[in-house]
Amino acid sequence: MTLATDAPNSLEAKDVAYLVHPYTNLRAHEQQGPLVIARGEGVRVWDIDGKDYIEGLSGLWCAGLGFSEKRLVEAARRQLERMPYTHTFAHRSSEPVIELAERLVKLAPEPLAKVFFVNSGSEAIDTAIKLVWYYNNARGKPEKKRIIARRRAYHGITLAAGHLTGLPYARVGFDLPMSDRFFHVTCPSHYRDGLPGESEEAFCDRLAQEVETLIRALGPETVAAFFAEPVMGAGGVVVPPARYFEKIQPILRKYDVLMVADEVICGFGRTGNMWGSETFSIRPDLLVCAKQLSSAYVPIAALLMSKEFYDVLADQSAKLGTLGMGYTYSGHPVAAAVALETLKIYESDRIVDRVRALAPRFQARLARLASHPLVGEARGIGLIGGLEIVQDKRTKAQFPQEAKAAAQIVARILEQGLILRPLPGDVIGICPPLIIAEHEIDELFDRLERGLDAALPAMAKAA
Ligand SMILES: Cc1ncc(COP(=O)(O)O)c(C=O)c1O
Repeated sequence: MTLATDAPNSLEAKDVAYLVHPYTNLRAHEQQGPLVIARGEGVRVWDIDGKDYIEGLSGLWCAGLGFSEKRLVEAARRQLERMPYTHTFAHRSSEPVIELAERLVKLAPEPLAKVFFVNSGSEAIDTAIKLVWYYNNARGKPEKKRIIARRRAYHGITLAAGHLTGLPYARVGFDLPMSDRFFHVTCPSHYRDGLPGESEEAFCDRLAQEVETLIRALGPETVAAFFAEPVMGAGGVVVPPARYFEKIQPILRKYDVLMVADEVICGFGRTGNMWGSETFSIRPDLLVCAKQLSSAYVPIAALLMSKEFYDVLADQSAKLGTLGMGYTYSGHPVAAAVALETLKIYESDRIVDRVRALAPRFQARLARLASHPLVGEARGIGLIGGLEIVQDKRTKAQFPQEAKAAAQIVARILEQGLILRPLPGDVIGICPPLIIAEHEIDELFDRLERGLDAALPAMAKAA
């Protein structure tokens, strides 16, 4: 039997479409030079020549409070003056770290109860992987180490996280995979991965079945965890069908496989609830968050875990004498103070209500683009969206890779004063700051429409 796995280093034909990251080629970068952003205000940024843009991707899906939130600047300044650095090793902590941990746990979905602070999403994912392995060693299940993720997932780029990311560019040329513990199943894009005539319900059933078949083929005693972003971001803004996670989770529970929610993009209101896990009825054993945790003003990320998971780690660390896990800047007090103030702002400004109020306008303008000749699918939820660019709307055929369709279109959109991001699979990501006003949503989409139209002649030639 051929496993529906990610055979190490053998890219399947369908993955090739995701091989080339539409952006980063160092030689091209040398020629073109960077767009240097000098200052920001609200949802707008200015480059060094004074040209203004709407930041339609909140930087890298992260600056939820925009680019001029004075309360965050003040929080950093206050903490820098009071205590610029102390660590969280060996029974130490600081006031903002303690307060932030308490607040995060209160906000977190059930049954998460404990927090471990780190500095980036990738670091949080690496930490989660190591702790999952530590947990299963502690439980006397040393074989239970394999991890399942999805094709097109983005979980970061460090050594372990890079194994989970289901985009070939994270591996090719880097001697990854180094480990055979990582497997990938089908991406829940009904548009791209659904079979002809397959309903969303049948698609979800098939994908859930694929997960079960894989777990059984590998041996449930060898499978430790399933990692998933509620809405896939950097792999192409893939919003799963509503019942996808409902169908996957009973299988995970049946085989004692942990559910790890990667909320690095979805966390803190993006999908119209505080957590993507709420939007998609996920009950995570572990949850990773970053980015909007501090509205990106300073680097900080967190790994939340259930009490049951924590207790196993705690007993094992007592047995071994230590928990050999931590970073110099885990729970950096300045980062913690800024994150704490960010969470206070989310509460005082009722950020989730705000997203819910704005989402209908945002999603209506997004949906309107589905009729554009270059757009195969316009999809989104809350204040995140993606446009899948196709050469042929009827057959869903993509432009040839060399055309770099999404990157070309994004360049035209940039000329209109809107920063968006081309993603693998020729998707254009849209993820504005959560503080965007209704009239700014209209302005964003007006610029986007003008950019798409301006790209039409070049794309007709590329076809
Ligand atoms: C869902 C998700 N997980 C993990 C990461 C990695 O985070 P970082 O870039 O902070 O390492 C990202 C980054 O975009 C992400 O979107």
